[in-house]
Parts: sequence; C-alpha cells; structure tokens
Amino acid sequence: MCLSCLRRRPLPRLFMTSIASINWLADMSNPTPDKGAVSDHFSRAARSYDEHAILQLAVGRSLVQRLPNTLPVPAALDLGCATAPFARAQQQALPEVHWQAVDLSRAMLAEASARGRLSAHYQPLCADAEQLPLAEASQGLVFSCFALQWCDPQAVLDEIARVLAPGGRLLLAVPLRGSLRELQQSWQAVNHRPHVNALPSLRDWQDAALKAGFADAQLQQQVMVEYYPSVKAIARRLKATGADHVSGASGLTGKNAWQAMVAEYESQRTDQGLPLTWNVLFVEAEKY
Ligand SMILES: C[S@@+](CC[C@H](N)C(=O)[O-])C[C@H]1O[C@@H](n2cnc3c(N)ncnc32)[C@H](O)[C@@H]1O
Repeated sequence: MCLSCLRRRPLPRLFMTSIASINWLADMSNPTPDKGAVSDHFSRAARSYDEHAILQLAVGRSLVQRLPNTLPVPAALDLGCATAPFARAQQQALPEVHWQAVDLSRAMLAEASARGRLSAHYQPLCADAEQLPLAEASQGLVFSCFALQWCDPQAVLDEIARVLAPGGRLLLAVPLRGSLRELQQSWQAVNHRPHVNALPSLRDWQDAALKAGFADAQLQQQVMVEYYPSVKAIARRLKATGADHVSGASGLTGKNAWQAMVAEYESQRTDQGLPLTWNVLFVEAEKY
C-alpha cells in the first residue's frame, strides 16, 4: 500500500490483509494510561497534527462514508476529535444534527477553533471519553477515529452505550495490539522498557462491546502498512501526531540504545522503505 493512495481515496477493501500471517507480540506490562499525560502529549502535537496524520485522516474519511442518513436524536459526538478534521464532512452528511467535538486536550480544541471548524452547530467539549458530562440517551451517534486506544475498552463502551439513545449508532476506528509492531520488535531486541503502548486486542473490544450491550456490533480488522525512508522519519511522524506517547515510559533514550534499535529496524527494510504496520479495528454498532 502506498501512502499517496491513502491520501487520495477512502480505504478500499484491498487493505484487508490476512491477520493469520502476523506474528503478534507478547503484551508489554504498561501501566494504565495517565489521562493528563495523554492530553499534554496531544496538546504539544496540536499545531502539527493535520499535516502529519495521513493514515489517521484517511481512516477517518472512510468512517465518514459510513455515516447513517438519519439519527433517532439530532445530536452527535466526535470523541477524541483533535483538530476536528472531519467537521465539514460530518455536517454535510448530517446537516440537521448538533455536533459536539470532544477531546481531552484543550489545545487540540483551540486549534480546531483556529482552523474555523467550530460553530454553533459544532461545539467543543473538553472531556474524557470515559466520563462524559452528558445525559443518558442524549445522543443519536458517537463517531470516533484513532482516539480511544488509551481508554479501557469496557469503560469507554459502557459510557458510549449510556449516552446513546435507543437506535443510536456507534462508528469507531481504533488501532489494535499489533500496531507499530516493527518498532516494538526493534526496541525489544535492545531493552525491555516500554517504547510502544500495549494496545487492547480485538478480543478485548469484542468482549467489551458485548458486555456494553452492543449485541450486533460488526467488527472488522484491517492491517495497513506505511513505508518510510528512515527510522527518524517514523519517529518524527509519530511525534507530530502525538502517537509517540507511551504509558510508563520515562527518561530519555540513550544514544547507544537508539542506534541499536535503528540497526535492528533497518534489518526489516524493503524495496518500498521501512514498514510501519497499523492494525486497525472498525466497529459499527447500534444501541438497542
Ligand atoms: C490521534 S488523535 C485523533 C484525532 C482525530 N479523531 C483523527 O482521526 O484525526 C487522538 C485524539 O484523541 C484525544 N484523546 C485521547 N484520549 C482521550 C479520551 N480519553 N477522551 C477524549 N479524548 C481523548 C487526544 O487528545 C487526541 O486529540
């Protein structure tokens, strides 16, 4: 898959890859993510986010295409909206709906405002997706792209189920365990400190969806591979999108450890460049 293709069109089914061929890594025992740290991290990436989040934005555009035509209640949330890059498309798809752009990071919401994406019909709400200051059954739709990977799947799906009205829809895309595996493998060969977040698995989300009452949830997994010219370019991209936040990581990485990791990563180089795998889960569900 080439990145320029991703930039131009929504994700086609061609991106489906057999997950059986993936060598999943053992879980790393990262502590529970600290929401303040997640928010600070993203706040630092607010200005650079849109220009670098190529894969995230392509995934989001494909999610926009799955928006329903009508909602049981004319209210919708974009959970973890960051700079609200989908605001215009979401409002075009559902023009009668009142949207709330929800994010932990005030800086991200300020950037959304600076980019002219907020309005009377698309209001900011600085809040944690696991504890929404919203009434039960008040929403017709919850949309979320690449934002809930730092949440506990059960806590966040229970909260989404609480705020959705009967007949309300959930549209979610979230990276799964196995994402950034080349980076994780390369670091593991050097030391066992956490360098890549231990993300929830497909099973974690599946079980949580069932327990939250999304009995007919459709879960689809897609493996996407980006290619980069260098490890430095990968690190720059992850930093600019805030995706380099790792729970439990502390201190600076030594030069020797970095060089050893780069050498390890280089052993995975292909004709297209250095691969970076994303294992993305798409969830479509209805609240009964
Ligand atoms: C990678 S960005 C995704 C932005 C956008 N949805 C997109 O697809 O381009 C993740 C965003 O989720 C926000 N976020 C992370 N955890 C959150 C939580 N528990 N509640 C609300 N927002 C959260 C971060 O602050 C960040 O702005």
